[in-house]
Amino acid sequence: MLFPKFYNKRFKHITVLISLAICTLIILNGYLSHDTNQVKIENEAIIQFKASANRYNPKQMTYVVFQYLTAFNKKKHTNHPLTSNIGGDFGIWFHWDDWVDLSAGNTKLNQVRKQHPSGGCPNNIQRYGAFSGFPFESMRSKITRSKVDLYCNQEVPKRIVIATDKSFVELPVVGEKRFVESKQSKKNTKNLSQEDKDSKEFQDSDDYHMMFGYKNFKKFEKEIDIEYSDFIFNIKDEIVRLKEKWNRRYIWVLEKKYLDMLEWANHLIDFSGSNEYFKNPWKFKDSLTSKIHAYAYPFYQRSLTDGERQSIAQHMIQTWFQFAQANGLKSWLGDSSLLGWSYNGIDLPWSLNIDIHMPIRQLDRLGRDFNKTLLIENPRFGNGKYYLEVSPTYGKQAIKSDSIEARLVDINSGYSIEIKSLMFHSDVQPPKKFWKHLANSDEKYEAVATHTKDWEWQNLRDTIPIRHTYFEGTSVYIPHNVTRYLSNIYKDKFINATYIGDYNYQRDLRLWVPNDVCNTSPKNFRFINKDDYSQLSLKGACNKESLKDEYQITEKLTTRHRELNSNIDKAKDYDPNQLKDLPIMRKDVWEYFNDIVHRTVDHTNWYNGVSSN
Ligand SMILES: *[C@@H]1O[C@H](CO)[C@@H](O)[C@H](O)[C@H]1NC(C)=O
Ligand SMILES: *[C@@H]1O[C@H](CO)[C@@H](O)[C@H](O)[C@H]1NC(C)=O
Ligand SMILES: *[C@@H]1O[C@H](CO)[C@@H](O)[C@H](O)[C@H]1NC(C)=O
Ligand SMILES: *[C@@H]1O[C@H](CO)[C@@H](O)[C@H](O)[C@H]1NC(C)=O
Repeated sequence: MLFPKFYNKRFKHITVLISLAICTLIILNGYLSHDTNQVKIENEAIIQFKASANRYNPKQMTYVVFQYLTAFNKKKHTNHPLTSNIGGDFGIWFHWDDWVDLSAGNTKLNQVRKQHPSGGCPNNIQRYGAFSGFPFESMRSKITRSKVDLYCNQEVPKRIVIATDKSFVELPVVGEKRFVESKQSKKNTKNLSQEDKDSKEFQDSDDYHMMFGYKNFKKFEKEIDIEYSDFIFNIKDEIVRLKEKWNRRYIWVLEKKYLDMLEWANHLIDFSGSNEYFKNPWKFKDSLTSKIHAYAYPFYQRSLTDGERQSIAQHMIQTWFQFAQANGLKSWLGDSSLLGWSYNGIDLPWSLNIDIHMPIRQLDRLGRDFNKTLLIENPRFGNGKYYLEVSPTYGKQAIKSDSIEARLVDINSGYSIEIKSLMFHSDVQPPKKFWKHLANSDEKYEAVATHTKDWEWQNLRDTIPIRHTYFEGTSVYIPHNVTRYLSNIYKDKFINATYIGDYNYQRDLRLWVPNDVCNTSPKNFRFINKDDYSQLSLKGACNKESLKDEYQITEKLTTRHRELNSNIDKAKDYDPNQLKDLPIMRKDVWEYFNDIVHRTVDHTNWYNGVSSN
């Protein structure tokens, strides 16, 4: 009955229009090859960088925070009152406008900044930002809106955690206030080489530990075992347990807050329908040029090139795993990050995020102790600032697409580490193919099937104990049996592939190379030197500087991977504390553009020539 009703003249016209539109999209997509896309994105990035360079410098707030920390230290010795614009005796002020480049929202925000220098936001602007953008507005207005949203509506972090040389220092955030306008003069604070000095003075001083919360770095272990009970979490049991405690004895303030969150989450999931907790900028635009669905709203600014994503990833991975290790949180690489590792020990160049898995109980602790934490990369290595958010919905199975339970977002790009948990549910059975891998009835009987919220099933025997390894040159953990773990997620054809999407794997370079750079290894000798394979000749790099650059960055990383992991399920014997992490060889994103704009480099390259060790 439905069909004839729709089949009228108007409907015909619409069908024609839609098909035309789809064809145009497909053709356009074909024109914009990977390579030209990279150039286009980079040119746009440079224009944006120049436009906001006057207002925004990521080193500035790091500098201010280290200044504050140093002043705090001195105060202890002299008993002078603390004079700092950024904070007082109990912590620091925070406003997103100081920490993120919000230039994209200037059309709305300039006026607001003038009228409310310390950070307030009038109701109409607030509503403009909060309005959940409808699918058909342009990307530009969506980004403007997101920046206004960040300015006006996003809660401030609870704390800032700063990576120093020896430990993570925790600074509480006491409230919301803008810093930028209150400083004496913009001009004379521009000398940021002072930052290094302050950071060094602070890092070298041993007694700052007395003043702030801190966690010393911990050594990485070869293997970490995890209790099976860490994979069990039942939200209703937790609620009853807390209520019992409350009824019979007392409840701590933090426990009460936790109980409130659980109660709320328990309802939220039932009523959220198809809504995901974490927001992404736009899904429909993916087919055109940029795969932006994976980026985090409201932090997303623009598309990123492969080089940018890989740089952000490398810096972020190091900070995350050091942070997790220092706090005794157990996590490991999953999904596409693990797949990337299995080939050459580095991330897949087209990957849109980092995938981390952890047991549900560990995630619960992450949420309780660190929800709304801004993590700051050690300024010696880069300008990374990452915001950790944990969804309240982790405690309960929701719709399949709401599987990301926590994310660590690079606040200047929206690129993120996506964290999923593994949990055990006695009342849900794994699908048939889960059992297929198990050889005999004993193995089947012993299996403990855990799953993520999007129903990836893993046997705990393949998962734990988790193992130490190097990813992008930095210490991380991976599941016990990588082959099994991956084959539970991906079809076999991905696990030892030569072509995936627009890339081909070149064994001689141990690299994924875009097909439009060259779609197979050239026959000629590819290196500059007969007996030194550390540098490609330009011809060997298919006449692309970008490939030469990437090889220079990754050669040591992938060599180590090959030496240790010729069997990806069983590494050669090594001591993670003897075999140090490799230096971060991907240049910080902001430095990269700064170098180009100030012409300190001849051509664009990501290789961070100066070793950071
Ligand atoms: C910046 O500060 C450093 C260290 O305090 C100093 O050596 C340098 O001369 C200053 N540069 C400028 C341009 O003021
Ligand atoms: C984390 O913080 C956000 C923002 O305040 C809140 O909505 C969410 O429920 C918190 N998550 C957890 C696990 O407490
Ligand atoms: C990993 O799993 C494979 C089967 O996929 C098995 O052959 C191998 O023995 C396992 N390795 C380890 C170290 O458990
Ligand atoms: C993957 O493919 C290569 C070359 O085809 C082969 O040498 C290697 O053994 C394969 N590895 C696995 C794990 O199948």
